[in-house]
Amino acid sequence: MRGIILSGGSATRLRPCTKITSKQLLPVYNKPMIYYPLNTLIKAGIKEILIIVAPERAGDYLNLLGSGKEFGVKFTYEIQDKPRGLAEAFIIGENFIDKENVALVLGDNIFEDDLSEEIKSFNAGGKIFLKEVPDPERFGVAEINDAGQVVSIEEKPTQPKSNLAITGLYVFDSRVVSVAKNVKPSERGELEITEVQKWYLNNSELSYGKIMGEWIDAGTFDSLLRAQIFAKEKMQAKMVI
Ligand code: DAU
Repeated sequence: MRGIILSGGSATRLRPCTKITSKQLLPVYNKPMIYYPLNTLIKAGIKEILIIVAPERAGDYLNLLGSGKEFGVKFTYEIQDKPRGLAEAFIIGENFIDKENVALVLGDNIFEDDLSEEIKSFNAGGKIFLKEVPDPERFGVAEINDAGQVVSIEEKPTQPKSNLAITGLYVFDSRVVSVAKNVKPSERGELEITEVQKWYLNNSELSYGKIMGEWIDAGTFDSLLRAQIFAKEKMQAKMVI
């Protein structure tokens, strides 16, 4: 299994803090934000990790994270020159993924749960991780039927069919590269990761896990504040880095 951390974007919602640095390098209590998703991958035993960054921040990531030796893993870096959407991570990562399965995590997503068994037990197809939230319209949303199967996926629906947000951790087999290459840009001009999920869903190859602990997308000032407090009170004992 290979790992990718998508850590680009311009983070305009966090201006002026992100005028001179990347959102995913901002402190979340005593560590840079990216340490939390990195911790999720390292705990799952993933040793080869691709970090995708915006061009103007690449040097900062190299200075902070280096080769990966310090963490017992190997880092590879790629540039995403424009934020064209989450699914582009698989196109940028084509050579890195090669014929392996891949876990993609967003650089601003913090998971309390230990997801290592869920990630390690993955064989083929696609897997998403769902969390019950009060404001599903802010996220990708999955609808589950009585038999416990995913029946629909929608990106930020105005009328969500469930309260199950699709969190920023995804596991796919290597077909994801060609699936992502066939995604057309959405109305907001992005290659949506929900389109990739829909391809696996239409092939009856999409499974899911449920997030029971806290999950924070730290992309706004309010969620960043929540992340800071949560990291201090609950995450310290769960970090291996
Ligand atoms: O957090 C989970 C949600 O993430 C999912 O529920 C949605 O389905 C998914 O589309 C995504 O929604 P967001 O609105 O949070 O996406 P955002 O544009 O904020 O990007 C998420 C992170 O990925 C952010 O830290 C910046 C980074 N990013 C984003 C884009 C579009 C990149 O590195 N490159 C990109 O091209």
